Amino acid sequence: MSVIKKCLFPAAGYGTRFLPATKAMPKEMLPIVTKPLIQYGVEEAMDAGITGMAIVTGRGKRALEDHFDISYELEHQIEGSSKEALLDETRRIIDKCTFSYTRQVEMKGLGHAILVGGNLIGHEPFAVILADDYCVNNDGDSVLKQMVKLYDKYQCSIVAIEEVPQDETYKYGVIEGVEEEDGIYRISNMVEKPAPEDAPSNLAVIGRYILTPDIYEIIENTPPGKNGEMQITDALLTQAKSGKVIGYKFKGRRFDCGSVDGFIEATNFTYQQTKS
Ligand code: G1P
Repeated sequence: MSVIKKCLFPAAGYGTRFLPATKAMPKEMLPIVTKPLIQYGVEEAMDAGITGMAIVTGRGKRALEDHFDISYELEHQIEGSSKEALLDETRRIIDKCTFSYTRQVEMKGLGHAILVGGNLIGHEPFAVILADDYCVNNDGDSVLKQMVKLYDKYQCSIVAIEEVPQDETYKYGVIEGVEEEDGIYRISNMVEKPAPEDAPSNLAVIGRYILTPDIYEIIENTPPGKNGEMQITDALLTQAKSGKVIGYKFKGRRFDCGSVDGFIEATNFTYQQTKS
C-alpha cells in the first residue's frame, strides 16, 4: 500500500475561457462526452489507490459537492430502468471515497489554493490533480498511479512533465534538470510561465503533482511570483535546490481542457473510444 492517501483538487478558478457555459456552472463540471472533468480526476486518483478527495472550491461551485453525493429523487426516478447503470461509476466513487471541501475565498494563485487545501490534508505526502489537464493512458497505469509508484522509490516531490512547443512555454511551469533515468529528471531549476526566450527548456509541468508536507511552510515563506500570485512552481524551486524534486515524463496523453481547443480534442478522442 502506498503512503499517498489523499488527493487535492484545486477547483476555485472561474473558467472564464468557457463563458458563458461557466457563468453559473463550475468549469470542472464540463463534461467530456457524459462525464464531468472532475470525475475523471477523481477516478484517476482512485486508480492510484487514493480514497481521500480534498477539493478546494469557491463561490458558485456547489454543483461539485452535489455531484459526489446521492441524489435520492433522481435515483428513485430511474430505478429499474436502463438508465440506472449510468450512475454506477459515480455511485462506486461515493461508496469508496470520502470527500472534503474547503473554500479559497480569494484567488491568490495555485500555491495559495494548495496552502488553503492543506487544512484538509494534514502532515503527510499528498497528490494534486488539476482537473483541467485531462490525462489518459490506455496502455497501463494512470498518470497519477505511475507517479505514486515513483514516490515509493524517490520519497520526494514529483511533478509530471511533458515536452511542449518552445513557443508555448509561457503557459506552463518549465523545468531544468538532469535526466537520471529514462524520463526521470532531477530538477535544478523551475520557472513559472517564462517567455520562450527565457525558458530553461521545453519541458513543461502539467497538472499532476506529488508534494511532501514541508511544501506548506515553504509556500508560506515564498513571496508572490508571476502575476503577483503565490506560485507552486516557486515553492517547488526551493525544494528543487536541495535536490528534492523529480520531473517525470509520464506515459500517456494529456489534453489541456482549460482551453476550448484541448477540450474539443479530448471530447473527440473520448467519443471515438466509446465507439470502438
Ligand atoms: C498551473 C501552474 C503551471 C503548470 C500548469 C499545468 O498553471 O501554475 O506551472 O504548468 O498549471 O496545467 P495554470 O494552467 O493554472 O495557469
